[in-house]
Amino acid sequence: MQLFSFLCINTSNQSTHMYKTALIAGGTGFIGRKLSSVLKERGFRVYKLSRKKTSRRGYINWNPELQTIESKNLSKVNVIINLLGANIAEKRWTESRKKELIDSRVKTTNFLRILASQMPNLEYYVSASGINCYGPESEQVHSESDPFGDDFLSEIVKQWEEASDKFSDLCPVAKIRSGVVLAKHGGILKKVIFPFKLGLGSALGSGKQHMPWIHLDDLCRLFSLAIQFKWEGSYNSFAACTSNKDLSRALAKSLRRPFFMPNIPEKLLYFLLGERAIMLVGGIKASNQKILQAGFNFQHKTIESTLKHIIRK
Ligand SMILES: NC(=O)c1ccc[n+]([C@@H]2O[C@H](COP(=O)([O-])OP(=O)(O)OC[C@H]3O[C@@H](n4cnc5c(N)ncnc54)[C@H](OP(=O)(O)O)[C@@H]3O)[C@@H](O)[C@H]2O)c1
Repeated sequence: MQLFSFLCINTSNQSTHMYKTALIAGGTGFIGRKLSSVLKERGFRVYKLSRKKTSRRGYINWNPELQTIESKNLSKVNVIINLLGANIAEKRWTESRKKELIDSRVKTTNFLRILASQMPNLEYYVSASGINCYGPESEQVHSESDPFGDDFLSEIVKQWEEASDKFSDLCPVAKIRSGVVLAKHGGILKKVIFPFKLGLGSALGSGKQHMPWIHLDDLCRLFSLAIQFKWEGSYNSFAACTSNKDLSRALAKSLRRPFFMPNIPEKLLYFLLGERAIMLVGGIKASNQKILQAGFNFQHKTIESTLKHIIRK
């Protein structure tokens, strides 16, 4: 491993807060940008780990493929937040893309684990994960103790969580199995909103598949709570499992547009998107009892009010 770090190991107790310095791997992404500002508001110093070279303050450049990193600040890190990964929805799932989707989570996390062993002040590790890890939708409502499915999405999550679990030698570890994240300026809404704005929005496939979702602000509050109370283990993280048809109808309504178009057939979605169409036509039913019992209160609970809030903000 080439490690271009000038790791000044700071053994002094440099924090009066419980946690002062957070390192967000994937901090430049959709979730990471928001979480970074939420943590800063809560008094954290935040470093974002990114492959993009920049001299801007608060950024740490790395190349996980070459296993190189340039930073003298790693020794300050108290909390690692892992939001890494090539975008699952962006490109067709060819064999090489599938490898990239896995490697960009697993190999990067393995390198992060090597770096973590050189962080003397590390107290906690939390990673994003996915709710689509229990296999195809059935009547079963999945809780965290259920086994992983054996489809591709489940395989990504399984391997990623296993890589995260290797941090447990160093500190408590949590994995936030998030549903689809809703916010105005990114994620799924940005991708699907255009036809809805034209009044041509429709449900996908049967429209009956369940899509667990969570507002970006709630997800960031959830990460904050996990960090504050050092949650350990896996957590299904979503406000509700809404059918695709209800979600689509609520989106049209929030935009004050009609909702009359026929469903887009599953076959057409597979033709247009290839195998990744499963993300739209496949669903999952899961339980969020564990986070509720851990004390989390959602600010955004119903799909109608959540989308209305997002669109009219
Ligand atoms: N958004 C959702 O609805 C949702 C739901 C459940 C789970 N998740 C998961 O949560 C994580 C964060 O989601 P997001 O929506 O914020 O993703 P995003 O906007 O695509 O950001 C992902 C981050 O990962 C880094 N990255 C991308 N490809 C990489 C690669 N090949 N090697 C190393 N780093 C790479 C990027 O950092 P640089 O380009 O700066 O290096 C980027 O900041 C992802 O793993 C995603 O699958 C997201």
